[in-house]
Amino acid sequence: MRKPFVAGNWKMNKTIAETRDLVSQLSEKISAITGVEKIICPPFVSLQTASALIGDSDIGLGAQNMHWEEKGAFTGEVSPAMVKELCGYVILGHSERRAYFNESDEIVNRKLISAQKYDLTPIVCVGETLDQYESKLTREVVSRQTSQSLRDVSPDFAPRIVVAYEPVWAIGTGKASNGLEANAVVKDVIRPALTELFGLETAQAIRVLYGGSVTSSNAAEFFGQPDIDGALVGGASLKLDEFAAITRAAAG
Ligand code: PGA
Repeated sequence: MRKPFVAGNWKMNKTIAETRDLVSQLSEKISAITGVEKIICPPFVSLQTASALIGDSDIGLGAQNMHWEEKGAFTGEVSPAMVKELCGYVILGHSERRAYFNESDEIVNRKLISAQKYDLTPIVCVGETLDQYESKLTREVVSRQTSQSLRDVSPDFAPRIVVAYEPVWAIGTGKASNGLEANAVVKDVIRPALTELFGLETAQAIRVLYGGSVTSSNAAEFFGQPDIDGALVGGASLKLDEFAAITRAAAG
């Protein structure tokens, strides 16, 4: 049984003061929801504030990115050791990182190997662009991203990985995919790629999320699919009631 998982990706939103407000309210609303692993991923500068507010509750904290090197002359970057002091999770290879910051599968893979070394639970994002979708390249692109981003991971660590299938055309557009179509990509493309990497048993244990315009109105449609184990939520994770409702929907 794969435990449902919901992650809020705040992207570049909320100041430290705003984080304080949202996290205190959120923690009241969602910490009592059981049966779902739930995490929030505020910007780096707010992680410490969020961490203090979350305290011992079972809400997890994630970073939205990190560098793969432990330390050194990488101006503006944040290392895995720094992330580890505050977080249990890290989002890797989000499509915005891939598109605006030139992150290739090779770079995502280096970061993943680093997450393994620092014992961080990675959420690795894959997904096709609108062009690729319209050219019917979804399967090829998602399969390649999965195989290359997740290579060379140890068999012990592999079940810890969370994969997020996020069609780029659905992110922030209000045009979510639909449950059946997203489930088909996870079942026919992502899990077979995971099976090739890690074997059937591990591939079945790895959680795969859907992301892209998830709201409280469509969440149940995705969570009802057999191969989708939760959601990576962007815009709706900034709204208290929305994120709470999505978390409840994932808990079943
Ligand atoms: P969205 O973003 O929910 O705002 O579409 C999802 C994501 O980018 O993870």
